[in-house]
Amino acid sequence: MSVAQTEPGSNRTGTISYMDLYRRWEEGNWSVMELDFSADRVGWEALTELQRSSALWMYSMFFYGEDSVADNLSPYIDAAPTEEQAYFLTTQQVDEARHAVLFHRFFNEVLEVEGSIGSTLEATLPQLNWGYRGVFDRLDRMADELRADRSLPRFAQAITLYHLVVEGTLAQPGQHYIEDFFNKDGGMPGFSAGMVNVSRDEQRHIGFGVKTLSEIVPQSEECKAAIVELFREINRYSVGVFCPPAFDRSYTECWGFSLEDIYAFGLKLVRQRWKTIGFPLEEMPDDIWPFDHSLSAEEIAKSQVKLLLAGVTGAPHPSPDSSPEIQGLLFDMTTRRARTDEAGKGPFKVQWDFTDATPWNVVVDNGSTRADPGSISDPDLTLKTSWTEWVGIALNNRNPLRAIAERRLTPKGSPRALNTFRKVFPPI
Ligand SMILES: [Fe+2]
Ligand SMILES: [Fe+2]
Repeated sequence: MSVAQTEPGSNRTGTISYMDLYRRWEEGNWSVMELDFSADRVGWEALTELQRSSALWMYSMFFYGEDSVADNLSPYIDAAPTEEQAYFLTTQQVDEARHAVLFHRFFNEVLEVEGSIGSTLEATLPQLNWGYRGVFDRLDRMADELRADRSLPRFAQAITLYHLVVEGTLAQPGQHYIEDFFNKDGGMPGFSAGMVNVSRDEQRHIGFGVKTLSEIVPQSEECKAAIVELFREINRYSVGVFCPPAFDRSYTECWGFSLEDIYAFGLKLVRQRWKTIGFPLEEMPDDIWPFDHSLSAEEIAKSQVKLLLAGVTGAPHPSPDSSPEIQGLLFDMTTRRARTDEAGKGPFKVQWDFTDATPWNVVVDNGSTRADPGSISDPDLTLKTSWTEWVGIALNNRNPLRAIAERRLTPKGSPRALNTFRKVFPPI
């Protein structure tokens, strides 16, 4: 069966069948072994020290990622509902192994990190940040879960993580910008030729993921719920993947693009693909994508990068920035995530008394929510805590009950108000 869909990476709509995707695989076959890396070492030496550090950071993520996706695809083949899907996934597994071999050659011959695939992979580990590990640890667990449970909702969840998040949101934007640089620069001809092929393969893989989900998700509330559950688990990690070492923006700027460019590019792809699948971001619960959907991807990306570099999103930070702008952005997310229907009749007023930052308050009233800096009269609930503690609770799954028990969070208000708070602002 073939369905109309938007081809990823373009605005073109067309009809792609699984056999078309298979044919493209046969026609696009290529050889890593035939690539000539002899000129690339000179190109590598010509890069600045910062560019070399940045390339090592990015390509460590790619190498580890290609190995991980090659290892984790087998249960997807077993769980695929149709033979056509299973056959395509077997071709994909070959591709992923080929991509890992490309990066192994690049590490051996250009970066001069000698050794077997296993030992070269070990050299990538220090480069992998918190967000990256969170996403790939989940991919490992997902493979085990899919082995034990081949149901359609589990399959939809697994394809979402693998094809839409790892390949579509993390790998593709990174590839896009860095490939662009090397194509223009011409300094690494062997590696660039390999990356052009990798990128074409990935387009096909993501196309498969979008097609598969568009066939099973729109009619299935169970599949939608499984996808939402996955996003609740991993969004906090995936947003932190591109956080450069020491929050240093020059890691991307040395190639001619900004962090904002990469987040905006990724968000445009996410929006386009979920629309094509038939489960647009606007239809997912408000806590999954807590931003104003009418804003452009560039505007949203700006705020995302601010929160990331402030230490608010991404890896837990010992002292996240508490400037008024950053506080405003966090409370904007808080209000968007609020389940206003749980607030009961009349205004529900919450006051945050931060020990180390400006107080804030949120008022939920008649289905709308407002957040403002400063104190408010007669709050139903007052939460006394530090800004760092609250950021951990609001965004990083830090346990609020434990914070209360350990006196890092002191609520003041009736048990009923505390209960309402937990319903209106459930932990993510
Ligand atoms: Fe790949
Ligand atoms: Fe792939």
